[in-house]
Amino acid sequence: MATGLSRLAVLISGRGSNLQAIIDAIANRRLRARIAIVISNVEGAQGLARADAAGIPTEVLPHRPWPTREAYDIQLVETLRQHEVDLVCLAGFMRLLGPAVIDAFPNRILNIHPSLLPSFPGLDAQRQAHQYGVQVTGVTVHFVDTQLDAGPIVMQAAVPVLPADTLDTLASRILAEEHRVYPEAIQRVLDGGWRIEGRRFVRTRS
Ligand code: GRF
Repeated sequence: MATGLSRLAVLISGRGSNLQAIIDAIANRRLRARIAIVISNVEGAQGLARADAAGIPTEVLPHRPWPTREAYDIQLVETLRQHEVDLVCLAGFMRLLGPAVIDAFPNRILNIHPSLLPSFPGLDAQRQAHQYGVQVTGVTVHFVDTQLDAGPIVMQAAVPVLPADTLDTLASRILAEEHRVYPEAIQRVLDGGWRIEGRRFVRTRS
């Protein structure tokens, strides 16, 4: 994957601000890749309009018509293969992926999560951190496995919780870090020169 322009799929369910950060990073050459397809499981998701505006193909794959999670996942893999995707980037995609997808793209699916994992997995990570009273939280980009927010960590960045922070001010500083970190983590993966040892993302080239 180290040469040529790698083909990304970005999977969304909503706002798509991380998708926008990836689009912008490609436009200003901080990220050397192209987005082959944006897939949303939610019709009318705001991120679809962002993709349209950037001239990126989109597909809507609602999960309701599919009788089982596995049937949906098989359809998703087919779509990713049709678009010859090298790396799948989850960006606010609100569905757990099953083995059919994980096995089709081993160490080729990334997710961004708005906390320093393994703290505060799952929904509302910013609220969890704010309520818990931690003084440092942050963002994590990790490979996806079949567990929730659990695969090997590619990059993290810390965000301090300030005494005057409301949930909103904290969440918006975390989001700004997400937008900085996700394109950088994607580039790091595309560049190669790493391997997974146990849970660890180990760089074999500096
Ligand atoms: C982000 O906070 C991301 O970390 C989480 O879902 C949110 C998606 O936001 N997984 P957006 O759709 O990228 O604006």
